[in-house]
Amino acid sequence: MSKAILITGGAGFIGSNFIQYFQEQYPEQQLINVDKLTYAGSLNNVTEAANNKNYHFVHGDIADMKTVTAIFADYDIEGVIHFAAESHVDRSIQDASPFIDTNIVGTLNLLQAARADWEEKGELSERRFHHISTDEIYGSLGESGKFTEETPYDPRNPYSASKAGANFLVKSFGHTYGMNVIISSCSNNYGPRQHEEKLLPTIIRQALAKEKIPIYGDGKNIRDWLFVEDHCKAIDLVYHHGKTLETYNIGGNNEQENILITHTVCRLLDELRPDLLQTYGLQHFSDLVTFVEDRKGHDKRYAIDASKIQNELGWQPEVDLENGLRKTVEWYLQKWKTNVPT
Ligand SMILES: NC(=O)c1ccc[n+]([C@@H]2O[C@H](COP(=O)([O-])OP(=O)(O)OC[C@H]3O[C@@H](n4cnc5c(N)ncnc54)[C@H](O)[C@@H]3O)[C@@H](O)[C@H]2O)c1
Repeated sequence: MSKAILITGGAGFIGSNFIQYFQEQYPEQQLINVDKLTYAGSLNNVTEAANNKNYHFVHGDIADMKTVTAIFADYDIEGVIHFAAESHVDRSIQDASPFIDTNIVGTLNLLQAARADWEEKGELSERRFHHISTDEIYGSLGESGKFTEETPYDPRNPYSASKAGANFLVKSFGHTYGMNVIISSCSNNYGPRQHEEKLLPTIIRQALAKEKIPIYGDGKNIRDWLFVEDHCKAIDLVYHHGKTLETYNIGGNNEQENILITHTVCRLLDELRPDLLQTYGLQHFSDLVTFVEDRKGHDKRYAIDASKIQNELGWQPEVDLENGLRKTVEWYLQKWKTNVPT
């Protein structure tokens, strides 16, 4: 049995981008992608990945211990990069249960199965368990300051609470059993293949359909925007070279109010689809922006201090916001060339 890295949630947004990136870097590396294919996951995201003979897909639920144990029995898992999660804050506000099942129970199952398998092989402290986490665990910032790896956890919604809980479990397996665990916490990702319910695809989809573009509150909430490919490069570095039991914050150094991001995307659409603008009798796609009631407990500002990963691992984001947004808009225009989802 040749060794393989287990990717969880690889049919989702970041996981599928990561698999593409990782295959380009290490085409001979065996990759097992386990994904439940929830509403957020799609095999369309990994059609190219599936052409590589070293890629294997397992349709399964990480909240089911039997499924997870079977993967460790069927393959020689040398490391885990754990993306699978319920990831949408609004959905967690509606119903937190799936977030506990996947983000907490699922993470625990993976830790337990990895620990049992790696202990038996005498490689518990060598094989690596990498948890992909979020800056939302740190809560909300005021006008100034940034999250560092030392910022105490202060989650404000069920999604971030479940991710913080998963982080604590991951750390506990490192401290208690000497497992080789590592965490990276990133800011808001954007780029190709993001589920259409998230902010950027929503702006593009609504604009293309001449529907209102809904923006929460006054649109002045600030996020730090990270192009997904930059994130994938950072994960590669953390997985291969990060120090055991450490956390690495990954940010795009791109703090922007939601409303400004929205206007930039609309401006790009004005430039790339002037024909549609004319058909719709609009001057600018931004005319469709409509402010709606704010999200409950909407965190005001997130900002990441990414100096640790920069100093220790030599990573820094390479794609600036304008270019990253242009690539993203172009990707969705291509995807929805003939059919804009309603
Ligand atoms: N998107 C972001 O901006 C962002 C920011 C910070 C951290 N993160 C973290 O990165 C990771 C990936 O996020 P994403 O945006 O790609 O999410 P996503 O929602 O696009 O994808 C999640 C994937 O996990 C799969 N999945 C869900 N439940 C599962 C289960 N029980 N068993 C197996 N597979 C399951 C889904 O089918 C989907 O393919 C998550 O852990 C998320 O918390 C994301």
